[in-house]
Amino acid sequence: MLEAVERQIEHYIDDLEDKDASELYHKLPAGKRLRARLILTIAGNSLMAIKSASIVEMIHTASLLHDDVIDEADTRRGKASLHSLYGSKTSIMFGDVLYSKGFYELVNIDSKIAKVISNAVVKLSLGERRDVLLSESFNHNRDSYLKMIYQKTASLIEASVEVGAILAGKNPKIYRIYGRNLGLAFQMIDDILDITQSSDVLGKPSMHDFQEGKTTLPYIYLYESLSDLERKKLVSLHKRAVSKDSTEWIRERMYKTGALQRSQVEARELIEEAIELMNIEGEVELELMARKMIERNY
Ligand code: FPP
Ligand code: MG
Repeated sequence: MLEAVERQIEHYIDDLEDKDASELYHKLPAGKRLRARLILTIAGNSLMAIKSASIVEMIHTASLLHDDVIDEADTRRGKASLHSLYGSKTSIMFGDVLYSKGFYELVNIDSKIAKVISNAVVKLSLGERRDVLLSESFNHNRDSYLKMIYQKTASLIEASVEVGAILAGKNPKIYRIYGRNLGLAFQMIDDILDITQSSDVLGKPSMHDFQEGKTTLPYIYLYESLSDLERKKLVSLHKRAVSKDSTEWIRERMYKTGALQRSQVEARELIEEAIELMNIEGEVELELMARKMIERNY
């Protein structure tokens, strides 16, 4: 099913008649295509579903090319990022190509679908900005974190599920909740794995979020449960290249205070609600996708 999406994206790239763009596209590491998979699972593989899924994936890829520049990330999906291989200018410009071609093709699609996707991309951009702003100091406000991850990550996943529902003539409201929960849980799990997994397993440096200034949900809960003295210590380590000792201290406190477990429970609750909704809708595959998400370890 996803093969049709890969072919459609390649077709869009070929349309550009630009050798450099084709070469750069083929250098990108393959992703999980979660958003495309959601659209096709809900709506089947009609041409409209394949086109919508391809456009969403192109925009998503563009956003990651920009994000790797913003985050100064050397790796993406276990491989060298385009920005580390060819520089930030190339990463941004090729991101622009994918992004604008995606929007060009979106115009030819049903306006209802175009509205859902473009509205999510606005949120995505605001979310990335919010992420950067929140990283400037130690954020311990859970609501700010939740709003940011909704915009940055959940909005496009929610939109993909809604697009699938619209195309299939299903109730978009119910599917939106599934997408929102799945998206929020996806980012929470990503943030948890940054702490619990090794760099080898992740394919990117572990314990990196805190060094970047990102106080994700486990850090917010850790902050809440520490004594004044330990809070001061934690805040003093924020946005620093922390030593192995400090990393181990953070990890140990994360487990001992239950901050990690609390975050895991929260992600699991979102997934459980999503599964329940899809159970009522008889969407076995969507239930399975949600279950797999909570069980992933990289
Ligand atoms: C990854 O987050 C980043 C996103 C999901 C969104 C990025 C959005 C933009 C750069 C703005 C929109 C740009 C365009 C071209 C539409 P992360 O850094 O937490 O995750 P990571 O570990 O996978 O990098
Ligand atoms: Mg990033």
